Amino acid sequence: MCGIVCYIGKQEATPILMEGLKRLEYRGYDSAGIAVSDGDETFLVKEVGKVRNLEEKVQALSPHGTMGIAHTRWATHGRPTVENAHPQTGETEKIFLVHNGIIENYRFLKDDLEEKGHTFKSQTDTEVLVHLIEEYYDGDLEKAVKEALGLVQGTFGIALFHRDNPDKIVLARRGSPLILGIGENEFLAASDVNALIRYTNKVVHLNDNELAVLNHTNYHITDFQDRKVTREMETIEWDQGAAEKKGFEHFMLKEIFEQPECVKNALRGRIVEGEGVPRLGGLEGVLDRLKSIEKVHFVSCGTSYYAGLLARYIFEKLTDLSVEVEYASEFRYRNLRIDERTAILAISQSGETADTLAAVREARRKGALCLGLVNVVGSTISKETDAGVYNHAGPEIGVASTKVFLSQCVVLTLMALLIGRYQRLSLTDGLLVTRALKELPDHINKVLKQADYIQDIARQYAKYNDFLFIGRLYNFPIAMEGALKLKEISYVHAEGYAAGEMKHGPISLIEPNFPTVAILPRDSTYSKMISNIQQIKARDGHVIAVAVEGDDHIQSHVDHVISVPHTIDIIQPLINTIPLQLFAYYIAKERGCSIDKPRNLAKSVTVE
Ligand code: F6R
Repeated sequence: MCGIVCYIGKQEATPILMEGLKRLEYRGYDSAGIAVSDGDETFLVKEVGKVRNLEEKVQALSPHGTMGIAHTRWATHGRPTVENAHPQTGETEKIFLVHNGIIENYRFLKDDLEEKGHTFKSQTDTEVLVHLIEEYYDGDLEKAVKEALGLVQGTFGIALFHRDNPDKIVLARRGSPLILGIGENEFLAASDVNALIRYTNKVVHLNDNELAVLNHTNYHITDFQDRKVTREMETIEWDQGAAEKKGFEHFMLKEIFEQPECVKNALRGRIVEGEGVPRLGGLEGVLDRLKSIEKVHFVSCGTSYYAGLLARYIFEKLTDLSVEVEYASEFRYRNLRIDERTAILAISQSGETADTLAAVREARRKGALCLGLVNVVGSTISKETDAGVYNHAGPEIGVASTKVFLSQCVVLTLMALLIGRYQRLSLTDGLLVTRALKELPDHINKVLKQADYIQDIARQYAKYNDFLFIGRLYNFPIAMEGALKLKEISYVHAEGYAAGEMKHGPISLIEPNFPTVAILPRDSTYSKMISNIQQIKARDGHVIAVAVEGDDHIQSHVDHVISVPHTIDIIQPLINTIPLQLFAYYIAKERGCSIDKPRNLAKSVTVE
């Protein structure tokens, strides 16, 4: 949530900062700003709305200089206004600061500062922090930052500089990611590698309670107690092209079409041929402990939660483990029986989601083995878990998760297979799963070829304001995910339901203006799904069915059929999710919505 980018070096900072902001805009987009210094003068430009609004202002004012900080905001304290946009300044307007996170005790700090004569221009918690640093500043910025942060409760990733000493940018972090980008005589920093990869693939992750100083020729890191921190540089593998649209109208569409490749990347080098078992290097160190685990809790949020819900069915099928799936935001407040025979698996695209991270910390406190399934390499969750697996899905820029959801489902299936094969799962069954996974990219390609057909259906349904999505068993989580995709990007009300629950309430909603999307693979639930559909049709509801190829029977029961290739039961939902992503995308497009950056949402939710 919110994006930070900083530059100090030999080049003009403004174009680099603006480019970085565009790449970070998916993290927050209700206002943006930059502060650039040429050594004598500091230029501060802020604007409400998207980064392109700021760009117009920046072009008119031409701020120049070889160092600067920039921010794109997702409002927490105070409405999106120019005053509330970052960088924020203090009383003397000499310190410029950008901030991700929340200062929880800002009210208390503000009252105290007001008593000391400070006056505030914004409603933000961030401005309180600048004033606090200013209060401690006596010529040594790092010292003032450390002293001020000693009083702060909450989370922060901050970057700041002082007008009187424009040769350095100070960064500090607790709970909000910050990554340093190390170039040739130039240094960058950002809350996400996406803003850095165009300039360097050499990065250093800042950890919690650490402070970094960048100047024109060097950088150093210390902890908040002034101890020097030495950290190896890492080389990131994401290529710059992956963060560009490559001719697609939206990142979301590009990411939907990247899914066959994503599956291949999730499987690459992970299947032991002929053994029906995967090799997951990230779990090797904890395999022995995993064998003694009796219970696993999947903790996650949003779409990652639905991946967990699906994985519960898959784990139940392939393993003897008892599995619970819990919203991370609920998990940490529950009174659960967690011990050394319990594992938790945190599922998170960003690896930074505050609720999921808090759940990991809570489980660790109780002695559980903490595992992670994360897409962003080096993210906080990947570091705070005992072991884990990466998705290798590449950057996901569209705020609505598509390719990483699919990749999560693939990797979770691999995890279940790994554990199952150590338990009772036979070689034959293991081989069935690995074969189905390997066929998945071709199956997905077949669905993607129907994009025009799905767009055509979406056009006919774009006028409706309410939708029901139903499925049973493996496809119940897919119905929930389909509904979430539709509501988040097209602002249409949609409910995902277990089809069997329909008669216990939601059926009362059914009428001609309340269409249903029904997922009905040829599995044990088929005839029950047909009954549900008949109940809907009897009430004049429209039905779009996602059914498997060769199901000629379904045509006569529904208004539209999207046919998908058939595979084994546990892998079928992974195919079924693709048409629902396309359906949501085309409805949102038809309704003229901001698809990659839906209102009020942000990609990386670092507030609880
Ligand atoms: C929806 C979506 C969100 C995220 C959720 C968790 O399309 O993307 O619901 O899934 O915010 O985020 P991560 O996976 O980064 O923990």
